[in-house]
Amino acid sequence: MLTQLASTARLLLSRLSVSLQASRVLSLIRPLDRLARLGFSPAPPTRSLVRFPRPIPTLSAIMPSKTVTLPTGHTLAVNGFGTWKSEPGKVGAAVKKALEIGYRHIDCAAIYMNEAEVGAVFAEMFGGDNPAVKREDVWITSKVWTSCGSKKEVVAACRQSLSDLKLDYLDEYLVHWPANWEHQGLPITETTMGTGPDGKLRWSKTNTLQSKWEGMEECHRLGLTKTIGVSNYSALLLMDLLSYAKIPPAINQIEAHVNNQRAELRSVCTDNNIHVTMYSVLGSGKEGPLQDPTVKAIAKAHGVSPGAICIAWALSTGCSVLAKSVTPSRVEENFKADEIDLTADEVKQLEALERGLLVCNMNEYWGFPAHA
Ligand SMILES: NC(=O)c1ccc[n+]([C@@H]2O[C@H](COP(=O)([O-])OP(=O)(O)OC[C@H]3O[C@@H](n4cnc5c(N)ncnc54)[C@H](OP(=O)(O)O)[C@@H]3O)[C@@H](O)[C@H]2O)c1
Repeated sequence: MLTQLASTARLLLSRLSVSLQASRVLSLIRPLDRLARLGFSPAPPTRSLVRFPRPIPTLSAIMPSKTVTLPTGHTLAVNGFGTWKSEPGKVGAAVKKALEIGYRHIDCAAIYMNEAEVGAVFAEMFGGDNPAVKREDVWITSKVWTSCGSKKEVVAACRQSLSDLKLDYLDEYLVHWPANWEHQGLPITETTMGTGPDGKLRWSKTNTLQSKWEGMEECHRLGLTKTIGVSNYSALLLMDLLSYAKIPPAINQIEAHVNNQRAELRSVCTDNNIHVTMYSVLGSGKEGPLQDPTVKAIAKAHGVSPGAICIAWALSTGCSVLAKSVTPSRVEENFKADEIDLTADEVKQLEALERGLLVCNMNEYWGFPAHA
């Protein structure tokens, strides 16, 4: 009798434990359902569940970052962290903070001239027997600068970024701009970026966008990067690239925010299996999305900052998103923006803010109408 009672109790307890585990699993999967409704292709639940094997206790409840799966089959966190204009001496601390609170997508570039400082943080966070963050859990991008345009120059530039970032491989290597300037050696500095002593651009007489892409394909073949893609490519340039690419671009990283939504270009990318990453979603420190009264009103209704609403809108498009900050409180609020559920009416109000505003106007930096 006693044995029978004990075995019934054991059976009940095991059922209870299974149902508790099941409800925990369901609570983790539910955000993915929401993601699917928004048009993302979430990674299989098993991958999401193992994304943060060692939660870091600085934030009470780190949600697994939402992900998107590229046509190549690679999965990346959609809410990404930028490093442009992050000053030396500040960028390392900002990237460390971003990784600590849960960012798993970091955007770098040789021309930001801060990859070595970011690399020191990667070495610290990914190093040792019990790393704070596993390298394979983070999606890391770098970009080849416009002064490297031959196959050999692109491969050398990629190796330079890997060395500076202290990595064995990149997840994504991008053509930074569809342009070729004179090659002046590596690393990329103020004096080797392809301009003359007068600051004027020196256009390459030999390199083409095709030779640059051959270099990108070589980087992929050599295993230096998991995926290759482009940045700042127009619809016409993408079609041209697709005519000769042996490995098609996986990604086009472009300026996009509520005041310049790039809906037509995004649609061309989608039709051609090219994932879009939006940059400068906060307006890049210029007058724009953050000052918009509609953005402010929606932010107030949700009890969050205008920046968080800009990121939430960008994520609602199905794109991955880059926002930069060196301010710890903003790094946190920007990361948590992917928990915001915008209503259909709010999305409609934000879509109505389109006005073709260009915040990264290269004419200001290069004195050349790159967007003409
Ligand atoms: N492929 C390309 O050609 C390209 C071009 C541009 C950008 N990008 C990438 O995209 C990333 C993001 O773009 P971005 O740096 O141009 O601009 P952004 O992220 O749109 O804006 C950054 C600016 O917004 C401020 N900020 C950040 N969070 C805020 C918040 N919650 N509330 C108010 N202000 C906030 C930052 O100040 P603090 O830092 O002082 O907090 C900084 O001044 C870049 O860092 C880079 O990685 C790529």
